[in-house]
Amino acid sequence: MGGSSGASFAPGLEGVVAAETRISGVDGEAGVLTLAGFPVEEISGRVTFEEIVYLLRHDELPDAGELAAFRTALAGRRGLPGATLELLRAAAARKVPEMDALRMAVDTSSLDLSDDPALDLVARFPVIVAVYHRLLRDEEPVAPDPSLGHAANYLYMLGGERPGEGSVRALETYLNAVSDHGMNASTFAARVVVATRSDLVSAIVGAVGALKGPLHGGAPGPALDVVFEIGSAENAEAVLREKLRRGERLMGFGHRIYRVRDPRADVLAAAAEHLFATNGDKELYDLALQVEKTALRLLEEHRPGRNLQTNVEFYTALLLHGLGLPTDLFTPTFAVGRVAGWTAHCLEQRAEDRLIRPQSEYVGATGRSWTLPEER
Ligand code: COA
Repeated sequence: MGGSSGASFAPGLEGVVAAETRISGVDGEAGVLTLAGFPVEEISGRVTFEEIVYLLRHDELPDAGELAAFRTALAGRRGLPGATLELLRAAAARKVPEMDALRMAVDTSSLDLSDDPALDLVARFPVIVAVYHRLLRDEEPVAPDPSLGHAANYLYMLGGERPGEGSVRALETYLNAVSDHGMNASTFAARVVVATRSDLVSAIVGAVGALKGPLHGGAPGPALDVVFEIGSAENAEAVLREKLRRGERLMGFGHRIYRVRDPRADVLAAAAEHLFATNGDKELYDLALQVEKTALRLLEEHRPGRNLQTNVEFYTALLLHGLGLPTDLFTPTFAVGRVAGWTAHCLEQRAEDRLIRPQSEYVGATGRSWTLPEER
């Protein structure tokens, strides 16, 4: 029990409900993720990312006219301030990691904002990531193409070629599926900043910083590395058993909230299967399925009854790899999707206009008296 107020201490705020939101809901026991009323598996593979951004923001899907106007509005906001480009060039010269470069670049957005900073930020995220990715590889940035949708333009700016419809659909399914996820750490960070009536850019910079941490934005990269390490299905059991014996965690399995399979895993598995069927490399997909099956069997042996299930990272890794994205783009691409949720939460929190200010429990010394430095 905490201090004089009698409020109870919840380490990590676990079990504490910090906001009411209409943006998304997570039921960890039932394995259900709802995005503004739609089950994640109902909507992710069917709509464009622009529709999800609109949905999270306005709590309804746009009609055809609204969607066309919204697409144009987003596409018109892809230009980066000159100083942002200069900063990205300086960061690339020093090989600054992608998420740090993204955080710094987002900060410079304040140099040139329209009357709708939330939209500016959603539009600029993939541009920043793609420009920086090319600069890091000593390649000149590709100018955005306003005729392309949000996801297609991201792939175009990364690779310099217009992507195929299958790739765009797969990326949109991913971005939609990760666009929001309840009161996760980065969303909470953004809401805390905005709740002080601070500005949106400050909030999103904070959110990027929170997402970067390995306990949150995580690394689907390691999950993929394990599949590569296993190489062929008959090695799966030996490799995974050895990892568990050494006390390692199997990447891509287990979750703090979900006690059943993460519903996003199913959405991404279906998208990955489709992508791999059309793009070739079906062997890698089949191998991943075998690895997953073996991992689930061994995890049940390892922690009987704990029901450690596949999480979003496992199929994220597979899907983004199938799209040709290198592992260092996995977390920045997560941010490209999640900024839709962050900005919607900021607007919701701003309308709520209630300072977020929890308490702490003082556990330090008491009753001390001041003495002169030479007497301490
Ligand atoms: N591999 C092996 N063992 C695992 C495991 C995994 N992926 N996930 C959990 N466990 C074990 C834990 O070590 C723990 O055992 P212990 O009691 O002996 O310490 C037990 O299962 C229960 O863990 P749980 O309370 O469910 O985990 P958590 O809520 O503390 O952690 C994660 C959740 C996601 C951090 C954890 O499952 C994990 O590290 N997974 C792998 C990394 C990953 O995929 N992260 C992306 C998450 S979206």
